[in-house]
Amino acid sequence: MQLIVGNNYDEMSAFAAAGLLAALKDKNDPLVCLPSGSSPVGLCEKIREHYAAAGSGPGWYFVGLDEWVGMDGSDKGSCRNFFNEQLLVPLQIPGSRISFFNGKSAQLELECHKAEEFISTHGGLDIAVLGIGMNGHLGFNEPGVDPSSRAHVVELDEVTRNVGQKYFSEKKELQKGITLGIATLMEARTLFLLVSGKQKAPILKKAVQGEIGNAIPATLIRNHPNYFIYADADAAEGIGN
Ligand code: GLP
Repeated sequence: MQLIVGNNYDEMSAFAAAGLLAALKDKNDPLVCLPSGSSPVGLCEKIREHYAAAGSGPGWYFVGLDEWVGMDGSDKGSCRNFFNEQLLVPLQIPGSRISFFNGKSAQLELECHKAEEFISTHGGLDIAVLGIGMNGHLGFNEPGVDPSSRAHVVELDEVTRNVGQKYFSEKKELQKGITLGIATLMEARTLFLLVSGKQKAPILKKAVQGEIGNAIPATLIRNHPNYFIYADADAAEGIGN
């Protein structure tokens, strides 16, 4: 595990973007997984700037990390909607290169199967960038998750149901989520965790220094051989740098 700390959110985002682009530099058609939410907004901006300056799009395949059950890209605040706006449309990534959970599907198990299939068809995840929830979740791998889990549907933790309201302009019933599993993520060649803000300092400290176990899902990826945490100084204040 390597911890890289930026002085502020912008610097953290720049470091993470540089790290991501370096990790993918020599890969043809890499398969990339990114998190939605507040943490990766700056990273997405840096990626857009990079490809705008390069004058060409990334040759990426893209797989979604998670989605709220009952939502798809047409729902403002959904994970897919976030990526449509932040990356997929601006970078003109064709639909054939994207696999994303449809949280409105009547066959959610099939959505899980399709995501895993897409990953194996494209040679495995080259990089999975993750955010951390206030309860230590990764994607929607909530406290108590089976560490051997692959893509699955979950009953959301109360913390997630409450904190998740921040993505929506009106109150939502957030009961279930669909997510790539811990085992799926652990197979990624490179893992990044993006953490920003003082409010995340206590959970980041636990993710880094707490006992490894499913009570705090973020501890489960700590032994990944190619794991980088990008934090800003506020989030890293409890662990030093
Ligand atoms: C959300 C998502 C995660 C995300 C995490 C942190 O609920 N399910 O994929 O990484 O929680 O989100 P944020 O960056 O907005 O704090």
